[in-house]
Amino acid sequence: MLGLLGGCADAAGPEQPMSGRQTYERQCARCHGDDGRPTKAAPTARDLTNRSYIESLGDRGIREAIMQGRPVMVGPEQKTMPAFGNQFSDAELKVLVGYVRSLSNSELGPDELTPDAVRERAGE
Ligand code: HEC
Repeated sequence: MLGLLGGCADAAGPEQPMSGRQTYERQCARCHGDDGRPTKAAPTARDLTNRSYIESLGDRGIREAIMQGRPVMVGPEQKTMPAFGNQFSDAELKVLVGYVRSLSNSELGPDELTPDAVRERAGE
């Protein structure tokens, strides 16, 4: 097993963008929960399993929320979703948006591009 220490090319190399699920679990789940339902730590976080709401946002709205964040006032307290800015690559954002969509729509696989994303790509 020489390869173990050699750090030789692995099937999933370092350039491989993270899957939507991995990114979600690292960056979003602490507020939105593993399954899309707000956690106790962030009860005001949007329920991502609400399909009609998520569909009304569309891929663009979801992407915007991620990049710009979402301030929300709860009484005197500001409970915010952080702005992730350009921290994700375009490819990562696409699969992340796809993953968010899959939380409310079981017809979409976790790493599939969403209908909007496919249309957007075709239009580019
Ligand atoms: C610190 C807690 C926190 C984290 C981390 C967080 N969110 Fe949120 N998110 C919120 C809150 C709070 C809201 C509700 C904001 C509102 O009602 O305007 C929200 C709202 C949203 C919405 C709905 C936006 C809209 O326009 O209504 C989406 C989509 C979303 N989050 C996705 C994500 C994704 C994807 C991630 C990870 C990249 C993430 N969030 C990380 C707290 C968080």
